[in-house]
Parts: sequence; structure tokens; C-alpha cells
Amino acid sequence: MTKFVLISGSIRRDSLNASVLATVRRLLAERPDADGIEVETLSVGLLPHFDFDVEQADGSAAVREAKRLVRDADALFISTPSYNGAMPGVLKNALDWLSRPGGDSPLTGRTVALASASPGARGGVDAQAALAAVLTRCGARVVAHEAVAVRRAAELRMDDGDFTDPEVVEALASLIDATLTAVREPAGAGA
Ligand code: FNR
Repeated sequence: MTKFVLISGSIRRDSLNASVLATVRRLLAERPDADGIEVETLSVGLLPHFDFDVEQADGSAAVREAKRLVRDADALFISTPSYNGAMPGVLKNALDWLSRPGGDSPLTGRTVALASASPGARGGVDAQAALAAVLTRCGARVVAHEAVAVRRAAELRMDDGDFTDPEVVEALASLIDATLTAVREPAGAGA
């Protein structure tokens, strides 16, 4: 069984990035090997602000559950907006929790696929470099793939919150393929 955890960098109800992940969920379900794939969602908005005191007291059930979810995953699929050229603080906060303890954290060795979306012409791609850098520093294996950034996402999104635009679907399907290939590679062989 290959376990995916989907993570949106935006916590708003009508998020374009959540819609990207809804499309990823649909594409995974439509694959011929869908029976061997499990998909869960991690809601980063449920986590408290990182606090070393809380961590030392092992005091947050939401953090413990997030860590369990990510540790049990074969791959994470993150879709994020760009806020002023970087990932939103709520996503960075979640990665900070997940990065502990350094060297043996839920992110260590974890395969992670990255995408972004925005209503604008750059599709939030500006957030991806810093996000990849943080993940790599935390020991995650960022899937090697050309950047998948859903441009003009508000115009492309369907009323039911799905993306059916052929270019978007092809890019996401290709990233899913690359992610599954990376999951099946021995550690150290990825990007
Ligand atoms: C934005 N937005 C934005 N867009 C962009 O392309 N580059 C940017 O640097 C920023 N910066 C930015 C900062 C802040 C604080 C906000 C609230 C918004 C717009 C952003 O892409 C847009 O709100 C998206 O719709 C957010 O993604 P979700 O919530 O739809 O997933």
C-alpha cells in the first residue's frame, strides 16, 4: 500500500490549492493501481504555533497526530500559494513541528511532491524554491520534476472545485507518476 498525505498551504475554505489537492485525489483514485493507494489529508491550520515549551512537554495532540500521519506516509503532496514570495506562515509552522527531532523527524527521508496555485500569472511558483530548500534541509526528498504551478487558477477551476483543464491535469498526473517512481526508488536515489 502506498500512502499519500495531502497538505494545503492555504487554510481558507475556498482555497485554490485545496482544489489542486482535490484534483490530485481524483487522479490517484482514477489510476489503474488505485487499489494500492491510500490518501489522507493533513490540515495545517489545526496545529498550534510552534512552541519549544509545548514540544518538550509533548503537549499537543494535534501535533502528535500530524507527526503520526506523516511518519506513516510514503509521500506527501504539498500545494501552496505564494505569500509575498514564500510559503504561508501556517505551512512553515507545520513543517517546523514536523522537522523535530532533527535527523529523525517525520520529514526525514520522506518523499515530497510540490505544486502551487494562484489566481495570477505565476501560479505561486515563487513559493516553491524556499519550500524545497526547507524540506531538503529537513531531510525530505523533494521529487525531481519541472515546477507544477497552476496559473490563472481561479479562471480554470470548475464550479465543483476540481481542475479539468488538460494542461493542469497532465502536469499533476506527471508529478504523481514521478512521485510514485521516487517512492519506489531506494533512499538516496532521489533529488
Ligand atoms: C497573496 N497572493 C499572492 N499571489 C502571488 O502570486 N504572489 C504573491 O506574492 C502573493 N502574495 C500574497 C500575500 C498574501 C498575504 C495574500 C493573502 C495573498 C495572492 C494569493 O495567491 C491568492 O490569495 C491565492 O488565492 C491564495 O491561495 P488559495 O488560498 O486560493 O489556495
